[in-house]
Amino acid sequence: MNSTNKPMAASHSGSRLLKAVLFLLIFSLGFIMGMISMATFPNFYGPPLLLSPMLLSSLAPSSTAMLTTPSPSTETPSPTPSASPPPTERPAAPMGLTAFLAPSGVMHTMTDEELLWRASMAPKVSHTPYSFVPKVAFLFLVRNQLPLRPLWEKFFAGHKHELYSIYVHSYPPFAASLPTDSVFYGSMIPSQKTSWGDANLVEAERRLLANALLDLSNERFALLSESCIPIYDFPTVYAHLTGSNDSFVDCFDNAGARVRYRPDVFARHNITQAQWRKGSQWFEMDRALAVEVVSDEAYFPAFRDCRRCVIDEHYIPTLVNTLGWRRNANRTLTYMEWPPRSPHPRVHGAVDVTEELFRKMRSGAANCTYNGAASNICFVFARKFSPDALGPLLDLAPKVMGFG
Ligand SMILES: *[C@@H]1O[C@H](CO)[C@@H](O)[C@H](O)[C@H]1NC(C)=O
Ligand SMILES: *[C@@H]1O[C@H](CO)[C@@H](O)[C@H](O)[C@H]1NC(C)=O
Ligand SMILES: *[C@@H]1O[C@H](CO)[C@@H](O)[C@H](O)[C@H]1NC(C)=O
Ligand SMILES: *[C@@H]1O[C@H](CO)[C@@H](O)[C@H](O)[C@H]1NC(C)=O
Repeated sequence: MNSTNKPMAASHSGSRLLKAVLFLLIFSLGFIMGMISMATFPNFYGPPLLLSPMLLSSLAPSSTAMLTTPSPSTETPSPTPSASPPPTERPAAPMGLTAFLAPSGVMHTMTDEELLWRASMAPKVSHTPYSFVPKVAFLFLVRNQLPLRPLWEKFFAGHKHELYSIYVHSYPPFAASLPTDSVFYGSMIPSQKTSWGDANLVEAERRLLANALLDLSNERFALLSESCIPIYDFPTVYAHLTGSNDSFVDCFDNAGARVRYRPDVFARHNITQAQWRKGSQWFEMDRALAVEVVSDEAYFPAFRDCRRCVIDEHYIPTLVNTLGWRRNANRTLTYMEWPPRSPHPRVHGAVDVTEELFRKMRSGAANCTYNGAASNICFVFARKFSPDALGPLLDLAPKVMGFG
């Protein structure tokens, strides 16, 4: 009657009694286990103990992969009050949607490979079964410190955290230098060394995108550097980004760019010279395109292995083009000035910060369109600004941008 037991000799009555006791013991154990698992996993139909810790950590970053304290018990309570006696070990928190939708911090223990894989996942069900406010993810790719941080602090001040998230890729001294009351506090993601013109710069961009994708409320993703400034107030920037049907990835084809195409490297990866594109590195994109960038396995290896290809100005534009991505404005939202024949954009110092400069930066030199109609906003960010521009920027901000 109990097939899992070892076969026993049935010759005398003592062994029959033992069998009965054992059966009762196993039956009641099974009953108690069943009660506990019903109370702990009310919506879970699979065997929870079969999930490996590795899978758990990539699926629920807030519960196992955080370096901060484990998720507090603010989870949605289980619908049935627990009737079973308190177990001796702390039970796993009931699995809800909350922890899956947004990690409680930016720290995690995933490798890049694990992170990109996790971030590449996108829901297939088109209807979202919960309501949420779209967030803008500000991705700061910072070489060292953020000298213009006081301006950004004022830009974000007073606006709801539900509307934005901040991710910083930098060196550890950056995180250590932040005061606890800064909006940047706790925003530094696990980072790696970067160097100008190197593939590791694009790896850092993909790392920033992937970290931001873990929060399912992030709908728009803007790449910024330590020399970038906002040129409108937060509500204007937020409305311009979340209201756009297009991504803003600079993407164009010209003879100057085509000379960087290396047939020996790219033809092997099925990237033709006709597909090759150039564009400013400073992108702003929607979630669908961000998922494409982190999950690209076909083209990134070709670019990573190509030295002197100026990967930061060619990889994403070429990827966007090979994907045939239509929802793109094909221009950047980050204003820059290129002095004639200079390989570097102009750096604006303290003396350059004027109202006139703001007028010029906002409308640009071209007639810009937005969702198919003419728009007087061409740019919402600008670079490059040197640290000494901070004072004049803070002085001018209330007048030209309405904050500070
Ligand atoms: C390039 O395209 C050809 C033909 O479609 C295909 O057989 C090959 O696997 C592709 N190579 C790469 C590296 O994607
Ligand atoms: C950007 O370029 C793509 C590909 O050429 C095109 O489909 C799209 O319509 C362009 N976007 C705008 C706003 O012109
Ligand atoms: C912008 O549009 C105006 C009016 O249509 C036109 O006169 C002007 O030349 C355009 N400027 C550029 C840079 O295309
Ligand atoms: C934006 O996209 C939505 C959904 O695809 C579409 O209905 C709407 O017409 C688009 N708006 C513009 C201005 O292109």
